[in-house]
Amino acid sequence: MAEPINVVVTGAAGQIAYSLLYQLAAGSVFGPDQPINLRLLDIPVMMEVLQGVVMELEDLALPLLKEVLPTADPAAAFKDAAAAFLVGAMPRKQGMERKDLLSANVKIFKVQGEALDKYARKDVKVLVVGNPANTNALICSHYAPSIPKENFTAMTRLDQNRAQAALAARLGVQVDKILNVIIWGNHSSTQFPDASHATVNGKPVPAAVNDDTWLNEVFLETIQKRGAAVIAARKMSSAMSAAKAAGDHMRDWWMGTKPGHWVSMGVLSDGSYGVPKDIVFSFPVTIKDGKFNIVQNLPVSDFARSKLNATAKELEEERTEAHSVLMP
Ligand code: NAD
Ligand code: LMR
Repeated sequence: MAEPINVVVTGAAGQIAYSLLYQLAAGSVFGPDQPINLRLLDIPVMMEVLQGVVMELEDLALPLLKEVLPTADPAAAFKDAAAAFLVGAMPRKQGMERKDLLSANVKIFKVQGEALDKYARKDVKVLVVGNPANTNALICSHYAPSIPKENFTAMTRLDQNRAQAALAARLGVQVDKILNVIIWGNHSSTQFPDASHATVNGKPVPAAVNDDTWLNEVFLETIQKRGAAVIAARKMSSAMSAAKAAGDHMRDWWMGTKPGHWVSMGVLSDGSYGVPKDIVFSFPVTIKDGKFNIVQNLPVSDFARSKLNATAKELEEERTEAHSVLMP
């Protein structure tokens, strides 16, 4: 059996981590042959709660789970990390936009970027889940200059999963029959969920739906506002579905995508599709040998262009705000 890898989960005493940790320990993310050591980071006041989570992890009795380290010390958590799920951050409440969390949360990602830079493996794969996820990933990477920029990604997989599920429901098919729906841009209400290149059982989704108004208005807004709808109903932000999406994102990054399948990930823009550089923007990607490539040469309609521009503009504004919080 392979040597264990160190996997960090921050916000380990929180809601998302509670659903994520089982997936990691059970082998559904890094595979059934990859043992793991869990490094669980939270803040000092959460250490007692975290002890309870550690007890439950022990009681899972899962053979792939080797050491478990609960800690409030980023240096201990990130030591030799091969993968990191950066979940720990404040969630939004009803009536807030995710970017309203920026000034509170962005400081966390500066500190964790610095700790990754000093203590993690240089090939560590970092998935930022804590909101505003795209800008937090940008900041985290900025403060970890010794780690390649492509090792930092932000989660838009929950939006992709939501979009796939909504299309499957509309078309009355199983969710895995829908492929290649794209989330462009920010994990926020300006994101552009795009079904124009998606397929259902190998046929184009737009023709199958045969209702552009539904696709461009109802579908689009439902996915953009889904996080808020969950908060309004649950009085807490999505956690089970967010944890599942985090597992999906990291598993595909670690293991690769199937031929012909695209997934959406927030990655540092290289200027593809005319998107400004130096923002973390969600693109469709394929993944092989642990490296992602942005899917190129997709046609962009005028409608899509206006949506891409709007979400890129919001990310540029968030970047400016983040820098003013960190370097006033
Ligand atoms: P939660 O409040 O249940 O848990 C957050 C945990 O993070 C808490 O235990 C808290 O103590 C901890 N924490 C705070 N500061 C920390 C720090 N500096 N270091 C380590 N841990 C720290 O929240 P949750 O429901 O688990 O959500 C976590 C974050 O994920 C929120 O920002 C939420 O908005 C975001 N989120 C993102 C997506 C996405 O699709 N990208 C989806 C759902 C939620
Ligand atoms: C989500 O999409 O459910 C999360 O980002 C939580 C939120 O604030 O919407």
